[in-house]
Amino acid sequence: MKRIGILTSGGDCQGLNASIRGVAKSLYEEFGDDVEIYGIKDGYKGLIFGEYKLMKPEDFSGILTLGGTILGTSRQPFKLMRVIDETSVDKVKNMKDTYKKIGLDCLVILGGNGTQKTANLLREEGLNVVSLPKTIDNDVWGTDMTFGFHSSVEIATEVIDCIHTTATSHGRIFCVEIMGHKVGWLPLYAGIAGGADVILIPEIPYDIDKVAKTLNNRIAKGKKFSILAVAEGAISKEEAAMKKKDFKKARADMKHPSIVYRIADELSTRVDNEIRVCVPGHFQRGGSPCAYDRVLSTRFGAAAAKLIREKKYGNMVGLVNGKIVPVPLSEVAGKLKTVPVDCEEVMAAKEIGISFGD
Ligand code: F6P
Repeated sequence: MKRIGILTSGGDCQGLNASIRGVAKSLYEEFGDDVEIYGIKDGYKGLIFGEYKLMKPEDFSGILTLGGTILGTSRQPFKLMRVIDETSVDKVKNMKDTYKKIGLDCLVILGGNGTQKTANLLREEGLNVVSLPKTIDNDVWGTDMTFGFHSSVEIATEVIDCIHTTATSHGRIFCVEIMGHKVGWLPLYAGIAGGADVILIPEIPYDIDKVAKTLNNRIAKGKKFSILAVAEGAISKEEAAMKKKDFKKARADMKHPSIVYRIADELSTRVDNEIRVCVPGHFQRGGSPCAYDRVLSTRFGAAAAKLIREKKYGNMVGLVNGKIVPVPLSEVAGKLKTVPVDCEEVMAAKEIGISFGD
């Protein structure tokens, strides 16, 4: 009997259930009655505290289009639980104990960067693991695409589309905050797809005067409305030049709830037009996966089962040049796939006149 565990960790995204389904259905196809699948509850928290359940084939039916994760997920479980003193728990030992207690042959781990790092740690500790790259940020190293990204691009683009109609009607400027603290793939794609006039991403520090100039030029041409796609992690040139600790302090002292409000504020003294902010927030992570993500999740899930069949543990499943390939977790862990400032998407955006404020 094969025993396979599966967990989802970190921020949720569209396509988690589609991926879980892909893994489970492939395993049942492969091993029939000879496999047991254990769902670990709420990510690594369930592994640390031994919270899991034996799943049945019907648990994986009807979930292809379902948003979120049927297994639950968590970020920094200790922070959320508060009651537990983190230092009193040997997390790694507990995770290994749970793995052994269930008698797992392999643990399938679905998650973003932090999750991949922990997956690699478990690999180093001798556990058999296989991982899948999820996140709306598309910032996992070793894969051209993560599931969740395209669904999120669709939602963020629709937000910008809707803002466009009201912005043009009223001749207003809108700063739309798009998710992405460290990496700007999502604001870049949604900004291009939504026809934004300005895109501000963490990889390209902005000069507020240049941003204002773009907006004033548009006003001079008779276009009173403008749309800015602003990453959560947009950063000014002055901030980018700061030492990390000074930057952190400056952000902590900021009177605005997030950078998009500060940008709107700073623009209001430089541009003679009404400026509004729109924050779609977690809307971008919710709902059904788009068709692309359903297909990608299914391919990833099936590939994970294949790696288990072939006992090729210690790998993340990645998409490289259109092909599904195993990528060693040792190479993935601790890296971030940021937007190259001269990538084709940025260059094409610049060529059609979109400003990055640089
Ligand atoms: O990692 C995905 C993501 O949605 C980021 O784009 C965003 O910055 C972050 O998670 C928000 O995290 P949380 O849900 O913990 O607020």
